[in-house]
Amino acid sequence: MKIDFANLQHQHNLYKEEIEEAILKVARNCNFIMGNEVQELEKSLEEFTGAKYAVSCSNGTDALLLAMMALGIGVGDEVITTPFTFIATAETIAFLGATPVFVDIDEKTYNIDPSKIEAAITPKTKAIIPVSLYGQPADMDAIKTIADKYSHSHSKPHKISIIIDGAQSFGSTYNGITDSALGDISTTSFFPAKPLGCYGDGGAVFTNDEELANKMKSLRLHGQTKRYHHKYIGMGGRLDTIQAAVLNVKLKYYPKDLALRQEVADKYSVSLSGQCELKNIITPALTPHTTSAWAQYSIRVKSDHVHTSHPHSSRRDELQEKLKEQGIPTAVHYPMPLHLQECFTYLGYKKGDFPISEIVSDEIMSLPMNPYVTDEEIGYIVGNLQHI
Ligand SMILES: Cc1ncc(COP(=O)(O)O)c(C=O)c1O
Repeated sequence: MKIDFANLQHQHNLYKEEIEEAILKVARNCNFIMGNEVQELEKSLEEFTGAKYAVSCSNGTDALLLAMMALGIGVGDEVITTPFTFIATAETIAFLGATPVFVDIDEKTYNIDPSKIEAAITPKTKAIIPVSLYGQPADMDAIKTIADKYSHSHSKPHKISIIIDGAQSFGSTYNGITDSALGDISTTSFFPAKPLGCYGDGGAVFTNDEELANKMKSLRLHGQTKRYHHKYIGMGGRLDTIQAAVLNVKLKYYPKDLALRQEVADKYSVSLSGQCELKNIITPALTPHTTSAWAQYSIRVKSDHVHTSHPHSSRRDELQEKLKEQGIPTAVHYPMPLHLQECFTYLGYKKGDFPISEIVSDEIMSLPMNPYVTDEEIGYIVGNLQHI
C-alpha cells in the first residue's frame, strides 16, 4: 500500500471544477492584486471565525510580523513563546529586533505550559505568543489570567498582549470560540498543507480591535494610508487575488473537512489505544474544552533513553524508517527545539534548559493526516506500528 501524507491531489480533484473556474476568472479579469475576491474572503473569514476583523496577508510568517508590528514590538522588547514550534514563531520576534524568551511546554498537549510563564515575565515583556500546535489551542484562560495580572500591575502603557500563532489551527475552538477570535491578535497560515490551504503562500491576521485591524491593513500595504502616503514603515504583505479565489471555494467546504479530520483522529486514537502491544506509543491528548483542527496527528514513540542524554538514533527514527519501507510516510514536527537552533545561539540557552521540549522533539512523529485517510489505511498504519 502507498499512502499519501496530506493528499492534496485528492482534495483538488474533489473541488476541481469550482477551483479551476475561480482561478480562471481572476486570470480573465486580470485583477491579480487586491481584487474583489480578497475582500470577499476577508468577509467570509470574519463570519467563519467570529473575529470582528480578518486581514488577509502573504503567509503565516508575515502574519506574525504584522501582528507584532501593529503592537509596536521591536528592539528592547521581550516576547515569550514556546521553543517547540516551527521556526517562524520565534524568528519573527528576532527579525523585529526583539528577544524571544522561551518557556517549556506541557508534556500532554505540547503547548506552552502556563505554570512556567510567570517566571519568564520581566518589565520588558510585551507579548506572549502561544502556538496552537498541531491544531489545538493552548490553555488560553490561564495565559490570559497571567497577561492581565501583569498588564495591570505595571504602570501604563505597559501591557502584555497575546498573539495566538494559529498557523496550524484554523477553525479550532476553545470554550466554543475559534482561536482566531481569542487573542489580542491571532494569526493563521494558508500554506497548502495546512488544514485550510491555498495553492501557494497565504495567511491572515484576526482581531476584535478596529485600530489594530486598520493598522495591519496599512502595514501589509507598505504602511500606506492612501496611495503613496506612508504613515508607517510597513511591508509588501498582500494575499494574491488568485489565492483568495481558491480559498473562497475551499472555505465553503471547510466545516466538512474539519469534521472528517476529527473522525480520522478519533479512528487513529481508538485503534491505537486498543493495542496493548503499543505500550511505547502515546496518542495525542485533547483537553476537554478544546477542539482541534488536526493539522497533524502526532504520536510519541517513547525512547528508553528518556531523561538521560539525547539518543543518536531514537526508537522513533528507527520506526520512521520501517514505516517508510512499508509505504507509510511520516514526518517529525519538530526534531530540534528552537533554543538549540544555531541561529539562536546568541540567546545563550543550552541543552537541558527546556527538558520537555527536548524529550518530545526526540520522540514525536506525525502520521498521515488529511480528511481522506481511509479505514483501510488506518488499519494498515496501526498494524505496522505493532511490529516495533
Ligand atoms: C506554528 C507555525 N507558525 C508559523 C508558520 C508560518 O506560516 P507560513 O509557512 O505560511 O509562513 C507555520 C507554518 O508552517 C507554523 O507551523
